[in-house]
Amino acid sequence: MAYQFEDIKDSVAIVTGSGRGIGKEIAHLFAQHGAKVVVSDIDADVCEAAAKEIADEGGEVMHVVCDITKMDQVENLMKQTIDKWGKIDHLINNAGITKDGLFLRMKPEQWNFVVNINLTGTYNCCFAAVNYMRKARKGNIINLSSIARHGNPGQANYAAAKAGIVGLTKSLAKELAPMGIRVNCVAPGFVHTRLTDAIPEKIREEMIKQIPLKRTGEPIDIAKPILFLCSDLAGYITGQVLDVNGGLA
Ligand SMILES: NC(=O)c1ccc[n+]([C@@H]2O[C@H](COP(=O)([O-])OP(=O)(O)OC[C@H]3O[C@@H](n4cnc5c(N)ncnc54)[C@H](O)[C@@H]3O)[C@@H](O)[C@H]2O)c1
Repeated sequence: MAYQFEDIKDSVAIVTGSGRGIGKEIAHLFAQHGAKVVVSDIDADVCEAAAKEIADEGGEVMHVVCDITKMDQVENLMKQTIDKWGKIDHLINNAGITKDGLFLRMKPEQWNFVVNINLTGTYNCCFAAVNYMRKARKGNIINLSSIARHGNPGQANYAAAKAGIVGLTKSLAKELAPMGIRVNCVAPGFVHTRLTDAIPEKIREEMIKQIPLKRTGEPIDIAKPILFLCSDLAGYITGQVLDVNGGLA
């Protein structure tokens, strides 16, 4: 019989930044596999709308508006999840932003904004969720890094944050393994979302030429490996970075 991700059914998954883009697709995929899903986003409108879409498809879902840079809001996200469903099996730290600019012109606010959301926001969510996972002695954390972690002109702030996420992931994987908690990174390449829609058409065409699979990724291309990493198919995998980029690097 084909493997059906039985262990995902009835598990509880929190996905940050899941009002749109990759996060929304992750939330849909987990719900389609029978998980109870917490849709969370800083943007209240998209947060509610994404949860409604999942509910309309028959998924079990709740939504919690949360700015991951605010520890009190992050703690509330975890508490509301526990109050409703009693556990947190999977935390997918997906919320992230870019604010690109050449380094010599980069203002401190531009640096801090990007590092604060991408890196410190990920730390906040890990810290708050692990508090519950360690008592259950099980859990999965997936942190979204990026191909940009290798360095990208105009993205010193974003690249530094996404490289920092790898260090955070690998350290947590080692510290939390004795508590039954696995921690991994997924690092997308060029995925078709709002984040990349801003790239001019000509540059986009040039980028696609560089991708061995000759297409941009779709959010579902990222969601599927995340489902795999959270499942018991990946039960012996922790502290890893899975590049999902069409062969780009
Ligand atoms: N799209 C790509 O090509 C690509 C490539 C590599 C990595 N990534 C990473 O994948 C993740 C998702 O990216 P996406 O393309 O779907 O972006 P997106 O902009 O489509 O969605 C990101 C979501 O995060 C939310 N968000 C922003 N700041 C937040 C905050 N402080 N608290 C909570 N939510 C917040 C936004 O409201 C939005 O709904 C990000 O971490 C991004 O860095 C994307």
